[in-house]
Amino acid sequence: MPVHVLGEHPSLLTQILAELRNQKLQKDRHRFRWNLKRAGFLLAYEISRHLPYLQAEVTTPLGQAQVQVLAEPPVLVSILRAGNPFMEGAMEAFDFADVGFVAARRTELTNREVQVEVDYLAVPPLEGRLVVLIDPMLATGRSILLSYEALLLRGRPRQLYIMALIASEYGVSTVQKSLPHAHLYVGAVDKELTARAYIVPGLGDAGDLAYGPLHH
Ligand code: URA
Repeated sequence: MPVHVLGEHPSLLTQILAELRNQKLQKDRHRFRWNLKRAGFLLAYEISRHLPYLQAEVTTPLGQAQVQVLAEPPVLVSILRAGNPFMEGAMEAFDFADVGFVAARRTELTNREVQVEVDYLAVPPLEGRLVVLIDPMLATGRSILLSYEALLLRGRPRQLYIMALIASEYGVSTVQKSLPHAHLYVGAVDKELTARAYIVPGLGDAGDLAYGPLHH
């Protein structure tokens, strides 16, 4: 499985990641969502460099230009809730994309294990499509794997791209083992996971930071 870690080299993405991880700046929820969106745009751009293109011709005011255009629109699928502001950036990049949503809920069990349940699926037909599955935090990999299983109910994508902002080493190797044909695009890979499956150092709970804490 090809793994692209964009934050390996300093860029605007590493600047945005620094702001997203910063506990002080996280108090500004609007800025957090805005930065997730900007990071989503940059990762989507990177994915665009590995999509299929067609040669075409357009007429400019001065003549004919040979151009490369995307061969087909991808399907962007957000894993709720934190996937949404991140996906909005990808939607700005792929403004012609089809869009879907899947809800993968973490239920924390008493024995400190984390279980993920998929209980909402609203996606276009996926058979033979190029699908980008979007979740800013790739912790254990369970949400991605279960979401992908749920997507298969709507058809088998021709190619799966996974877009995450921060992944754990464990999450990357889990997804690599289970989805060897997928392409993974991440901003950074962090070393550790807590017992409650939070990425360390990570940035905290991306959904809570973007939208506020949930009622439990
Ligand atoms: N989801 C989050 O929002 N943060 C983590 O660290 C792991 C999963």
